[in-house]
Amino acid sequence: MSVTPAAALDAFIRGLPKAELHLHIEGTLEPELVFALARRNGMPLAHASVAALRNAYRFSDLQSFLDVYYAGCAVLSKPEDFFDLTMAYLERAHADGVVHAEIFFDPQTHLAHGVPFSDVMAGITDALRQGEREWGLTTRLIMCFLRHLDEAGAHEVLALARPYREQIAAVGLDSAERDHPPAKFARVFAAARALGWPAVAHAGEEGPAAYIWEALRLLSVCRIDHGVACEDDPALMQHLRATRVPLTVCPLSNVSLGVVSDLRHHNLKRLLQYGLCVTVNSDDPAYFGGYIAENYRACAEALDLDREDLLQLARNSIDASFLAAPDKAAWHAQIARYADQPGPACPARRA
Ligand code: ADE
Ligand code: ZN
Repeated sequence: MSVTPAAALDAFIRGLPKAELHLHIEGTLEPELVFALARRNGMPLAHASVAALRNAYRFSDLQSFLDVYYAGCAVLSKPEDFFDLTMAYLERAHADGVVHAEIFFDPQTHLAHGVPFSDVMAGITDALRQGEREWGLTTRLIMCFLRHLDEAGAHEVLALARPYREQIAAVGLDSAERDHPPAKFARVFAAARALGWPAVAHAGEEGPAAYIWEALRLLSVCRIDHGVACEDDPALMQHLRATRVPLTVCPLSNVSLGVVSDLRHHNLKRLLQYGLCVTVNSDDPAYFGGYIAENYRACAEALDLDREDLLQLARNSIDASFLAAPDKAAWHAQIARYADQPGPACPARRA
């Protein structure tokens, strides 16, 4: 049986060891699971069927998505709901060749629905342990503050997180970016840093390049989530190249939310060729039409990425992670072995 170029590309991407560094666990809530959890928890739903709900996943911008995303979170109420959600993601990630995942969660959303912080943590962390046992998939958990809320709320959730210092690897910042600059959260990020937590932040998704500078200077982040607006500022581009501060880019998300009009116009390849430490990730894959392998595949086709580009994206994902140096070295060796083996060939661009 002959292998089509598309099937060979897919096999190459799935076999490529990679880390996923920008993934909201709440954004992996597939419509089928929404219905299953609503039934289990005896909750009414606004949509009549899985198909009707999926059909509502059409967005014009970040806010139009966030409205649907936060509404969907209402079905998550018990530790077992968070467990099932997280296991479903890990299984898909493993199938896509993810060897390490750094996962965001939004505790303020669940607290607003009356779900205790401890229940959210119990469900997610049980699943992370099971995923590592079953597939050897290592993980880190990143607790995000919601930037459309005030800083006092962020301080409250930071206090709740303090007993979980070992289970939470870092803090992050997400939700509506416009009019909610990183500066609004400078004090809570300083408090998190004082407690030993490194930081990342969404910046330069819908917001300007200036927000990326703010996240770097005022929040001391070690990684920028999205960051695609950096191209508007040549000095920022030079800074990101010189410091190798990684960008966790989410191409299909950017198309779904109108950050770029078409994947063929995405700046991922330009940023990669300029020498930035860019990575490819899925953000909220249940809503944006694809998990990480689909993001790699769609970019390979739309941007004409070649085998070396895909390998570099995978290497960047390891470098940009919170893994310890020996683990990074081990994954680099695995990627090098993968690159050396004869097949499956990467047909993204025929040599
Ligand atoms: N929360 C979930 N997905 C997000 C995104 N793409 N940007 C900001 N906040 C988010
Ligand atoms: Zn995100």
